[in-house]
Amino acid sequence: MKEKLSAIKEQTLAKIEQAQDASVINDIKVAILGKKGELTQVLKSMKDVAPEDRPKVGQMVNEVRQNIEEKLDEKLKAINRAARAEKMKRETIDVTLPGVKKIDGHRHPNQTALEDLERVFIGMGYEIVSGPEVEYDKYNFELLNIPANHPAKDEQDTFYITKDILLRTQTSSVQARIMEQGKLPIRILSPGRVFRSDEVDATHSPSFHQVEGLVIDKNITMADLKGTLAQWAKEFFGPNTKTKFRPHHFPFTEPSAEVDITCFKCGGKGCRVCKGSGWIEILGCGMVHPHVLEMCGIDPEEYSGFAFGIGLERITLLKYEIDDMRLLYENDMRFLQQW
Ligand code: DAH
Repeated sequence: MKEKLSAIKEQTLAKIEQAQDASVINDIKVAILGKKGELTQVLKSMKDVAPEDRPKVGQMVNEVRQNIEEKLDEKLKAINRAARAEKMKRETIDVTLPGVKKIDGHRHPNQTALEDLERVFIGMGYEIVSGPEVEYDKYNFELLNIPANHPAKDEQDTFYITKDILLRTQTSSVQARIMEQGKLPIRILSPGRVFRSDEVDATHSPSFHQVEGLVIDKNITMADLKGTLAQWAKEFFGPNTKTKFRPHHFPFTEPSAEVDITCFKCGGKGCRVCKGSGWIEILGCGMVHPHVLEMCGIDPEEYSGFAFGIGLERITLLKYEIDDMRLLYENDMRFLQQW
């Protein structure tokens, strides 16, 4: 018994000495002192020891146990101390290293222009609404007086998903959706992405943005349309901006117009920005066609209204004097950081 105990002691202390991490210490503890541990087994076999030897043997077992426990404890502390020292060493911060520069993001020029534009119309009491980019032919064309086989459909050729569903070619699609809801009067602004199968160049992209405006109420006249857009142009491009309404044709408005503004760069004298003419075309608009009102469930005898569509990229490029639309989409930091 005595030899067995000293053998356990010697072997265990040697193992503890060699242990390199806490889990090994724990394994040793279990293997020796655990319920089925070696020393515990010895204790269990005390019944085989002659009664007169029992106190002596018992004392020996306790001594060995204590000895091992102390060693385990010591070693565990040493291991933890070493691990901590190692960690401190690893986590030392070199305060002399140069810092990591944080780059703050900011709004894209398109977004800045949109927010400037929206602010003016919100001030006039407009509500901002949005419509789906994947749209029914019905809203994108039919309810806007562009029936199947209408030539205007070819001009705005797009990406069809099925015969009746397409990527919208214009935010005008939101007009019919809002009118159809039957809540009058209407005074909305609807910005969003539109799609056309255009080749990419300095002024074209297969995906760009428009901002649609629609007002329907009693006694709305062309004077309201002109006053509204003239006021917006002054607030957006500068107080001296003049507007010019040129007759045009859109299937969903009658009469229709295109609007030019005096060049904000040269004030109308003619320069590079306005290509020498003094004027810049910025949007399409008109009085909502009575047939469109009717198709959307509004009585044209009682109500009238106007609509307009602004190309967002177009006014962004103009306002910030950017000469290539592609720059807005390329995400080149050297370009974006200038705004
Ligand atoms: N949707 C037209 C286009 O994409 C622009 C437009 C013209 C919108 C006249 C209108 C409008 O609301 O009344 O070319």
